[in-house]
Amino acid sequence: MRRAKISVIGAGNVGASCAVWAAAKELGDVVLVEIPHSVGVAQGKALDLFCASPMERFDANITGTSDYKDVEGSDVVIVTAGIPRKPGMSRDDLIATNVKIVKSVSEQVAQAAPNAIMIIVSNPLDAMVYTAWKASGFPTNQIVGQAGCLDVARFRAFLAMELDVSVEDIQALLLGGHGDDMVPLPRYTSVHGIPVSQLLPEETINACVERAKAGGGEIVKMMGTSAYYAPASGSVQMAEAIIKDKKRILPCAAYCDGEYGIDGLFVGVPCVLGKNGVERVVQIELNEGEQAMMDASASHVADLVNTVKKTFPELG
Ligand code: LAC
Repeated sequence: MRRAKISVIGAGNVGASCAVWAAAKELGDVVLVEIPHSVGVAQGKALDLFCASPMERFDANITGTSDYKDVEGSDVVIVTAGIPRKPGMSRDDLIATNVKIVKSVSEQVAQAAPNAIMIIVSNPLDAMVYTAWKASGFPTNQIVGQAGCLDVARFRAFLAMELDVSVEDIQALLLGGHGDDMVPLPRYTSVHGIPVSQLLPEETINACVERAKAGGGEIVKMMGTSAYYAPASGSVQMAEAIIKDKKRILPCAAYCDGEYGIDGLFVGVPCVLGKNGVERVVQIELNEGEQAMMDASASHVADLVNTVKKTFPELG
């Protein structure tokens, strides 16, 4: 059987962590791609990770490169390129720099691997997914953004801390953009099937909602840069669903064509991920308050996309 191939663009903290999770799970061979100036970082991390394989017992070729020819034949390309947040910055502050990087990367990926599914991780996430879509010319099912997996995992982790139960038993749902106005949904959150509202008081659930929304910022404040283990884990969870054609329902930034009242934008919604990328968006019923939060989040995403269009009118 042919091994799958995963290319990771950007060999910084998030990119390297993606390589670790993907290789350790034996999802396929991994290519770490860097700009020519930093190619040694990609090569060094690739060799370092390969040297861990006899101990961790995984078989995967791991290579570092700055040549997009090496991306050819990729099943999945994870785009982590761009600058991360520093303390005091919002994700939106990164747009001017990262839109240029993501545009250029996406054009090169589209040339090298026209059939790959692209998972975008660079921030501000929802606007970078739009940028990648326009710059690559890919159909909407081939472009998806990682945010919901991370955000909902944070929500689950914080609930597990409060409940003192296994993180595995917490199921939750979250919608909206990857910003401070993301929309965790306690009404769709359960602990081994038990509605969370039966196990925790409303104030505690609300505190977990707020902590999840600000979870990225909490970590930036602690360590001076953006999180990477959990963002990478979310990306690899998506890559696994695609490579193994698992048809998992995961919250991802997917193209909405009228779903949830959103037209022509990539916003976080539950979707089915399989070998064709985003195979469909799953619609759930929202109450008035939830829909209002979703509308606010989508309108923030629309503002960011307008900034992208102003910077590069050809992406309009
Ligand atoms: C975070 C960054 C990756 O939420 O956006 O940690």
